[in-house]
Amino acid sequence: MTATTSNSSDAAALPDYVPAPPSALAPPLNEVPGGGEDMPRIAVILGSTRPGRLGDQVARWVMDQARHRTDAEFELIDLADYPLPHLDEPLPPNMGAYQNAHTQEWAAVIGRFDGFVFVTPEYNHSTSGVLKNAIDYVYAEWNNKAMAVVSYGAAGGTRAAEHLRLIAGELQMADVRTNVALSLFTDFRDFSELAPAAYQTQALETMLGQVIAWSQALAPLRHVTQAAQRR
Ligand SMILES: Cc1cc2nc3c(=O)[nH]c(=O)nc-3n(C[C@H](O)[C@H](O)[C@H](O)COP(=O)(O)O)c2cc1C
Repeated sequence: MTATTSNSSDAAALPDYVPAPPSALAPPLNEVPGGGEDMPRIAVILGSTRPGRLGDQVARWVMDQARHRTDAEFELIDLADYPLPHLDEPLPPNMGAYQNAHTQEWAAVIGRFDGFVFVTPEYNHSTSGVLKNAIDYVYAEWNNKAMAVVSYGAAGGTRAAEHLRLIAGELQMADVRTNVALSLFTDFRDFSELAPAAYQTQALETMLGQVIAWSQALAPLRHVTQAAQRR
């Protein structure tokens, strides 16, 4: 499958992103209405839980743009709503024998989706511990699904994004080409208010298209694998 990236002429056609005032960003944040049963379901996983986190603005921006798509259903999964302890399963997750109720609940959440957009900060040149822990908890629920990354940090969070690609490989996930990398210097006002450059909006649109397409393309593989597991 050929993936494309944004270019400056595309970006010039788009208006600057203007963050909505906080009141307009109040719930409903979680669910974007989708089109039907065959629509790919994509989770936007908010991977920071820090008080005062910038990640919630980034995730809202992703969800605001996803709202305009008619070819997939998007749902925000905020890890702050899923307070998983440090991994406490006695068996490796690829054995599929989850013993704790919180693991089974988390597996049911992840299992509902066909693809994922990870919204990650860069912490010490990697993704956040809370996101890595949440990823480590389950295995089959990630398999044969697509993933994309929206990262942010001083250098766009690109090192976190690249680490997530490596992790995705072990989980049998397909990572799409485009990474939206938001710079704390140029995509945030005063390092605190999200104000992405216009080309970032175009890149996000490209990335959403890729994760939707790959989520659909991998559906036959998911069906074969699930059928084999039922035998
Ligand atoms: C523990 C920690 C480590 C960080 N390490 C890096 C880093 O390696 N590179 C970087 O560009 N920014 C780094 N930062 C800055 C974060 O990317 C920035 O504070 C970002 O807003 C964090 O996301 P959050 O606000 O959603 O928690 C670090 C921040 C924290 C809290």
